[in-house]
Amino acid sequence: MKLLIFSKILFVFFLAQSVYGQNPLFIPPSLTGTTFNLDVQTGTQNLYPGNPTPTYGINGPFLSPTIIVNKGDIVTLNVNNGLTVATTMHWHGLHVSPSNDGGPHQSIAAGTTWSPSFEILNNAGTFWYHPHGEGKTELHVGKGLAGMFIIHDAVEQSLGLPQTYGVDDIPLITQSKAFDVLQQIAIADHMDTSIMVNGTIDAFYDAPAQVIRFRMLNGSSMRSFNYGFSNGMTFYQIATDGGLVETPNPLTRLLLAPGERAEILVDLTTMNGQSFQLMCYGSEMTNGIFGAPAVGIVPDVIDMYDDNPLNGADYELLAINVIAPTASPVTTIPSTLVPYTPYFAVNADVNRSLVLDTIRLLPIDVPNLAEGPFGINGEVFDMMVNNIYVPLNSTEIWTLHNKTHIAHPFHIHDIQFNIIEKNGLPPVISEQGWKDVVLVMPHDSVKFITKFITFEDNMVPYMYHCHLLHHEDDGMMGSFIVSSSIGIDEVSLSGNDDLQVYPNPSTNNWEVKSNSIKGEYKVILTSLIGEVVYESQGKSFDNETTISIPTADFIEGIYLLKIQTLKEEFQTKLMKTN
Ligand code: C2O
Ligand code: CU
Ligand code: CU
Repeated sequence: MKLLIFSKILFVFFLAQSVYGQNPLFIPPSLTGTTFNLDVQTGTQNLYPGNPTPTYGINGPFLSPTIIVNKGDIVTLNVNNGLTVATTMHWHGLHVSPSNDGGPHQSIAAGTTWSPSFEILNNAGTFWYHPHGEGKTELHVGKGLAGMFIIHDAVEQSLGLPQTYGVDDIPLITQSKAFDVLQQIAIADHMDTSIMVNGTIDAFYDAPAQVIRFRMLNGSSMRSFNYGFSNGMTFYQIATDGGLVETPNPLTRLLLAPGERAEILVDLTTMNGQSFQLMCYGSEMTNGIFGAPAVGIVPDVIDMYDDNPLNGADYELLAINVIAPTASPVTTIPSTLVPYTPYFAVNADVNRSLVLDTIRLLPIDVPNLAEGPFGINGEVFDMMVNNIYVPLNSTEIWTLHNKTHIAHPFHIHDIQFNIIEKNGLPPVISEQGWKDVVLVMPHDSVKFITKFITFEDNMVPYMYHCHLLHHEDDGMMGSFIVSSSIGIDEVSLSGNDDLQVYPNPSTNNWEVKSNSIKGEYKVILTSLIGEVVYESQGKSFDNETTISIPTADFIEGIYLLKIQTLKEEFQTKLMKTN
């Protein structure tokens, strides 16, 4: 223990003494227009000399381009999966239909292209995109598949904010990664000691002496960042996850958990020639947050937590050197931005409670309240189950109860929400606005309000989950279906071992076989809300008979297959994918 503490001090000392910023900050190339070709591919990066690291990237070996669009655009995104494994692509924070959302149900097979097309409905803001494959999010994001998704709108453009990408409007995707002994990116590893901004290790950025807009995204798998500047200067938060706030918030610290975004303005107009650093002040983070001095009640309740020199430390993220201003710089910070009209709690139609807790695999399990496996409302994610039915246009208050020793950033797809309270108190100013991720502290509760508007789909669910990626991959995720169909009752689904249906999931047809079904039979296929989508009957079902159900015309989602004979009924759940 002594030795570890000593090496930790040495490491922090080394961080403090090293020459800041060796490598110019990479600015991901931008893509504009309405048709986007995103080629997902493998590559290698020389992140550490002498040991090329296998990576994933879009339109390049590592990381992903920045997509820039305008509200109201109708965009088509051709996601061409050049990997040898399936992936998905999710537009985090965007208000799109479930089948365009890119969650685990929209799997893109190796060598195929998925082309969602939708209207940009969100207001101006900083969003992002990343894979969301079942159990594979951390692997694919960690290897480099993460990009920024910027939306502009007319109101924002009239405010005089810096908006020239790469000049005064700068993406800062902060990520920590773990590497194994061969300098290969390691997954579900708590020794995430390499800090990258836009994929650059030990980065510096030459910032012109004017007002600069930084779009901050915490794209890490686990680590939260408590951002601040080494010179102590005030910066102005102008946007939360879902877009602009009412007035710029003057701050000296800003905490972002994985998945969260913020836009900030820094006024460098009088600082030409100065150098300072964007820092993470980990020593000031509240215990329980991954990256704080401690998580759990005893040291190392998370494997290796105490050995990671970044935990509880203050360290550099990006060195900034102020250089001469550009030709027509922005030099002022607007005093007001956009009106903010949150939802009102009195208008809520439904209250729901979600408990974030350890899943006890066996009755004798001793729960480890900081390392999982975690679930929501006692369940782990199951592709075949829909957890919550939300009526279209329902205004809802969701209360999140964290029963564990670690803070979980809770994220919900489809909509933006307003935090009503955290442990009974209104949220801090930096969390007042439109949000799609909220950090729920250990043994704390959070209430948010939202309205499920625009999109409904009886078959394809949206996701909610913890944005610590290995928690998500391990099943700390659930699904919800938004539908205007009345009287939705969750169908009770009991699988039948004897009923064999393949392939499942399927794109074209299901072949049904059984050993115990005999004689006359009827096949009924229903959607999750009980609508019959297919019916057929036959005279001689026995173990030689195979029933074939054509599925090409079905929309993707979960179906219930029932086979009725004169005596019995057999049923199983099936999934249709595109
Ligand atoms: Cu950023 Cu469901 O994900
Ligand atoms: Cu999302
Ligand atoms: Cu979590």
